Amino acid sequence: MARVVLEHLVKIFPEKGGPGVGAVKNIDLEVEDREFMVLVGPSGCGKSTTLRMIAGLEEITSGTVTIGGKVVNEVLPKDRDIAMVFQNYALYPHMTVYENMAFGLKLRKFPKTDIDARVREAATMLGLEGYLARKPKALSGGQRQRVALGRAIVRKPKVFLFDEPLSNLDAKMRVSTRTEISKLHARLGATMIYVTHDQVEAMTMGDRICVMKDGNIMQVAAPLELYNHPDNLFVAGFIGSPPMNFFRGTLRRAADHVSFVEDNPGGAPLTVALDEALAGKSSIYLDKPVVFGVRPEAIHDSLTVASPDPGRTAEVKVEVAEPMGSETLLYLDTGATTFIARVSPTDRFDAGQKVQVTFDLTHAHLFDPTTELALK
Ligand SMILES: Nc1ncnc2c1ncn2[C@@H]1O[C@H](COP(=O)(O)OP(=O)(O)OP(=O)(O)O)[C@@H](O)[C@H]1O
Ligand SMILES: [Mg+2]
Repeated sequence: MARVVLEHLVKIFPEKGGPGVGAVKNIDLEVEDREFMVLVGPSGCGKSTTLRMIAGLEEITSGTVTIGGKVVNEVLPKDRDIAMVFQNYALYPHMTVYENMAFGLKLRKFPKTDIDARVREAATMLGLEGYLARKPKALSGGQRQRVALGRAIVRKPKVFLFDEPLSNLDAKMRVSTRTEISKLHARLGATMIYVTHDQVEAMTMGDRICVMKDGNIMQVAAPLELYNHPDNLFVAGFIGSPPMNFFRGTLRRAADHVSFVEDNPGGAPLTVALDEALAGKSSIYLDKPVVFGVRPEAIHDSLTVASPDPGRTAEVKVEVAEPMGSETLLYLDTGATTFIARVSPTDRFDAGQKVQVTFDLTHAHLFDPTTELALK
């Protein structure tokens, strides 16, 4: 199998009368052999362009793509030993499922018995044995997507490239196909690079995740590492749903500790006593502006906390309560900042009511508002 390395990779699309569109801006990325790497980021951040340069479908402006130790910039797509699965899997409508999966191998002049063995093996892996004689129009969307996967699998490529392959499927089908692709990864032991803008997909499927923004890489790390130790405000706000809450304010020294004090000119500012870990990271930020970040699950209804620390408890207003069944999402307001807490579903809350919330600082973060980098 193969390692995929991107070095100083740049893509500028020419633009009439302009300097060109910088879609990918000098990125470096190493995807290990057999790794499942997810590229994630908002629309237009350069995910597809990156994948297409790896596939050879897009000319590289500068930099290199190396697959299995060989620079492939000048190698034709068909000779790169990759297979790509797109959102719009164009199956041949006049061919059966079997013929669709066999087609690429036939073109490459594989022996018939070999083709048959590979198609049947892939069909078994994907639960398509019963559908081999059907035409695509007689399949569901999920089954068609599996045929598209099968077409890639039979080629036994070194590297699989996926560009949002599940986005045409309904929610339930997405979850089951997602699991299927993860299982396939374990079974095939191939290197896989998977593009999505869905951060849940990224978290659940990736060995590592590469978060992109505006043609740049913001962070590459394992899912929980990204979640627990984001490098910057962008990653902190992008990974996690509902997202991390951010409060703008200043660090102030109190008698025996340092507090974060929210900017709240009109009202009572949210004030949270920092623990030693956070205070230690931020000593040079005393009396300077910072962004305080806390995930919704680290904000608790004080009534449910055994002995809430008064230094980390604040009274805020409930704007909306959304009972989700397994939890309730509370949309809260300090007067200057609206934020979300994830609380126990058994508690009842009414809009407009005041509630005491306690901050759990083991999962809190501080960021420099100018550089947007996490204080580490
Ligand atoms: N052929 C092209 N000509 C000019 N600009 C392009 C071309 N293809 C893409 N772009 C621009 O390059 C940038 C990156 O596009 P890309 O398709 O890689 O984004 P993406 O991250 O895949 O987004 P999405 O999640 O919407 O698919 C965008 O600003 C896009 O408008
Ligand atoms: Mg795309």
